[in-house]
Amino acid sequence: MADKAWGGVFTEKTDPAVERFTESISFDRRLYGQDIRASIAHAQMLAKVGLLSPEECLKIEQALEDIRSEIEQGRFPFRIELEDVHMHVERALIERLGDVGRKLHTARSRNDQVSTDLRLWVRDALDRIDRRLREVQRALVERCDRDAEVILPGYTHTQRAQPVLAPHYWLAYCEKFERDRARLADCRRRVNVLTLGTAALAGTSLPIDRDDVARRLGFESVAANSLDASSDRDFVLEFVFALTLIAEHFSGWAEEWILWSTAEFSFLKLPQGFCTGSSLMPQKVNPDVLELIRGKTARVVGGLQTLLVLLKGLPLAYNRDLQEDKPPLFDAFDTVDAALELAAPLIRQAELNRPAIAERLDRGYLDATALMEHLIQRGIPQRTAHESVGKLVRKAMDRGVRLADLPLTDFQEADPALDRSVYEVLGVENAVAAMQSFGSTGRQRIRDQVERWKKRINDK
Ligand code: ARG
Repeated sequence: MADKAWGGVFTEKTDPAVERFTESISFDRRLYGQDIRASIAHAQMLAKVGLLSPEECLKIEQALEDIRSEIEQGRFPFRIELEDVHMHVERALIERLGDVGRKLHTARSRNDQVSTDLRLWVRDALDRIDRRLREVQRALVERCDRDAEVILPGYTHTQRAQPVLAPHYWLAYCEKFERDRARLADCRRRVNVLTLGTAALAGTSLPIDRDDVARRLGFESVAANSLDASSDRDFVLEFVFALTLIAEHFSGWAEEWILWSTAEFSFLKLPQGFCTGSSLMPQKVNPDVLELIRGKTARVVGGLQTLLVLLKGLPLAYNRDLQEDKPPLFDAFDTVDAALELAAPLIRQAELNRPAIAERLDRGYLDATALMEHLIQRGIPQRTAHESVGKLVRKAMDRGVRLADLPLTDFQEADPALDRSVYEVLGVENAVAAMQSFGSTGRQRIRDQVERWKKRINDK
């Protein structure tokens, strides 16, 4: 019983099965660095307000650093009787310092401690994901120069729709990831709040200085309501939601590239280093990395679901349920972090199969909309122009030719005043050249966007 931090009131020993059931050290040991950092800041504040002497504070700091290196060198004994990372660190401190070590938990509870550790951890995790996203954006922007002149078929419903410039395609993903980064930045403001000092739930009668701790730990503000702060895991949920949306974006991209790398599409050649083979079929080169980026998204979505269900219906303030927030959080982070690490080199090393793409741009009537807009510019109502071009496409399909192969007399059925200049709007090159609206695939629009992205990427 003397082993437990709550020994006093208990007269019976904890059942070993209960220890196994309630422990979190198997996963929260990952927070040791944050726990030690927050404990040092707490001790320094206690010294500042006179609850520790300067000598006691120094001893605590040194012992905590010593514990840190012991953990880092793999020499630290973890045992489930000590339940979680907080008790392990504190116990090791007491073993080293005796009564001085027994003072560290002054004006502090594991409830505000775990919240603080987790906020420090999420803050770092969030910054790391942001750096990875920026790296992916860099890779995408680099592709814009490399593929500046390439025209791709654009799709809706996975059916050929209108031609787009390759940089337009690359920047589409840049935009998505920029929103992801904005979500992370927004989430960070709510993560970056000091909860330490709210103690168990009600605050403390001891004269602590929370602003001082906030400054030491780089928190931007101090949580104003101890009941709220000790129960709040919104920041975990928000971060995992941001991770989920990132995973969803990468999953869609992976799906697209899996299709593009098939023999049926042959738009893309994946680097062999990012593919694996079959143990049975000798000819196979499979896009397993992309499939797992898509597949592992399920775990992240599952983690979000777990957290939503976990947090539903918890009364104020701390409840032990909250301990279950860590496995889904860590797993969602690890999964997205690993996927993002692979995404940037994959984007850099994949090759667009330009001949195969170019050769088939003539199929699918990608220029039909351009023709319709040409008729609209000549004063024909949109509905009428749409129908006329539909009929021309039908005619071309029946003959197995492109729109540009139809004789002028066919076009003149749509608009008797049309002359041979109609052929100048046909074909994917002309269709792209005709684009001009802001946000479109028009050449100058895309050049402007590429410039804008290059500046942005270099700024941050
Ligand atoms: N391991 C616990 C957690 O992760 C720490 C807080 C425990 N607090 C308590 N009152 N039992 O939530």
